[in-house]
Amino acid sequence: MTDKTSGFRTAVVPAAGLGTRFLPATKTVPKELLPVVDTPGIELVAAEAAESGADRLVIVTSPGKDGVVAHFVEDLVLESTLAERGKFALLEKVRKAPGLLDVTSVVQEEPLGLGHAVAQAESVLDADEEAIAVLLPDDLVLPCGVLDAMSRVRAELGGSVLCAIDVPKEQVSAYGVFDVEAVEGADADVLRVRGMVEKPALADAPSTLAAAGRYLLDRAVFDALRRITPGAGGELQLTDAIALLIAEGHPVHVVVHRGSRHDLGNPGGYLRAAVDFALEREEYGPQLREWLEFRLSENWDPTAPAR
Ligand code: G1P
Repeated sequence: MTDKTSGFRTAVVPAAGLGTRFLPATKTVPKELLPVVDTPGIELVAAEAAESGADRLVIVTSPGKDGVVAHFVEDLVLESTLAERGKFALLEKVRKAPGLLDVTSVVQEEPLGLGHAVAQAESVLDADEEAIAVLLPDDLVLPCGVLDAMSRVRAELGGSVLCAIDVPKEQVSAYGVFDVEAVEGADADVLRVRGMVEKPALADAPSTLAAAGRYLLDRAVFDALRRITPGAGGELQLTDAIALLIAEGHPVHVVVHRGSRHDLGNPGGYLRAAVDFALEREEYGPQLREWLEFRLSENWDPTAPAR
């Protein structure tokens, strides 16, 4: 089996978190299954991975979060019911996730951090896989396609390639932040990473370029993950493994993403994504727009009859 032009076959999606910011909903519903209009966030991310050339998705779950993987399993009873009722548009929607790519799961037994979660995927990789993609399901990077740009950079410059977004200064402490320099002769949005620090204080942040949940990582990352110690928040951080690789001379670059991005990891960001996606849908968009305009106008009156 050879990799397609993307240079990777496997996309790893860490989905082991407790989803505490979405409690009480996430008491029984995994955060990754909350719908963006009608499609779970993790299906959007799986579709992006498939689009970029992945043929296998490795979902890192925690004990009891089997529903996330079940979303990618064919439901023949549901499918035949929809077919019998002539609901073919719904049938197509239901079939989409199981048809995207092969899904396997690995369990992260303890919540020891993102680095530890990614490390669990090594056990299911084939011996000839030289790189993996990691997509954080909290992040929607739009329009899709940044992984393609990252693959091109890896093909040219080798090593590992990450996606960066420029964030407002006050937000840097929520991210992995890059220390970068220009690459001679390269596109202005491709930068060499000199260092990376997880959730720095504003005063210590080397830039406002932050990791945006898309990583194309050389297999060497697994060796680095075995050698890191707990970092920010007392967790084993993926950022620290990447920083270790850089310190040891492994090439790491970023592609700066200039499009939009949603953070599904908190209710505020999730709602923005839902509204954004709904506005683009012909069956919901026009009415939602009209209602939002009214809701935000001076004519809004919560005691008036519903429109
Ligand atoms: C994780 C990563 C961080 C990255 C962020 C992107 O942090 O550790 O480096 O910038 O995702 O969303 P988390 O948001 O899980 O705290």
